[in-house]
Amino acid sequence: MNIWGLVVGGAVVAGVAVVGWQALQPAPAQQGHSMVPPDTSKIAMGDPIENVRLPGRLSESATLGKRFYESKCSACHGENAAGQNGVAPPLVHKIYEPSHHSDEAFQRAAQVGVRSHHWRFGDMPPVEGLTRADVKYIVAYVRELQRENGIN
Ligand code: HEC
Repeated sequence: MNIWGLVVGGAVVAGVAVVGWQALQPAPAQQGHSMVPPDTSKIAMGDPIENVRLPGRLSESATLGKRFYESKCSACHGENAAGQNGVAPPLVHKIYEPSHHSDEAFQRAAQVGVRSHHWRFGDMPPVEGLTRADVKYIVAYVRELQRENGIN
């Protein structure tokens, strides 16, 4: 092999090495729907994930929503929407702020369920027996909890 064979061969090997190295790097944490699931490994299974501060009072809509929430959602999302590790995420969490999960995302979640994408707790099944109006009250409740916790 002449000197040029060595140079070209070396460049090809270096190129393959760089591409391989890049492929092995962890994906950067991204905004949006392909983000890395938050790390909950230090929280006991079944424990709340967020420490939720409660508003002094709830509006009438939110009070109604709390009732629907407690009968249809809290078994998974936990008391005060604080989440339950290993079961379902806290809805009082920056991920679910209005600009990232609109009220319509809540309607869709209740109607058709959710394929697991932000967390590693499995899919959410559709929730039976709620009208859109009922879910609107639930959203009012969750938004008031979110606002009290600085999530707008
Ligand atoms: C059987 C357990 C279970 C029940 C009941 C449940 N959820 Fe969920 N929910 C989950 C899980 C698990 C996820 C997380 C999916 C993921 O990894 O992103 C989730 C995600 C969500 C999301 C995020 C949707 C998105 O687009 O990312 C919303 C909003 C939500 N739930 C609202 C509700 C509401 C409102 C109720 C009650 C009407 C409810 N959930 C009842 C398990 C549940």
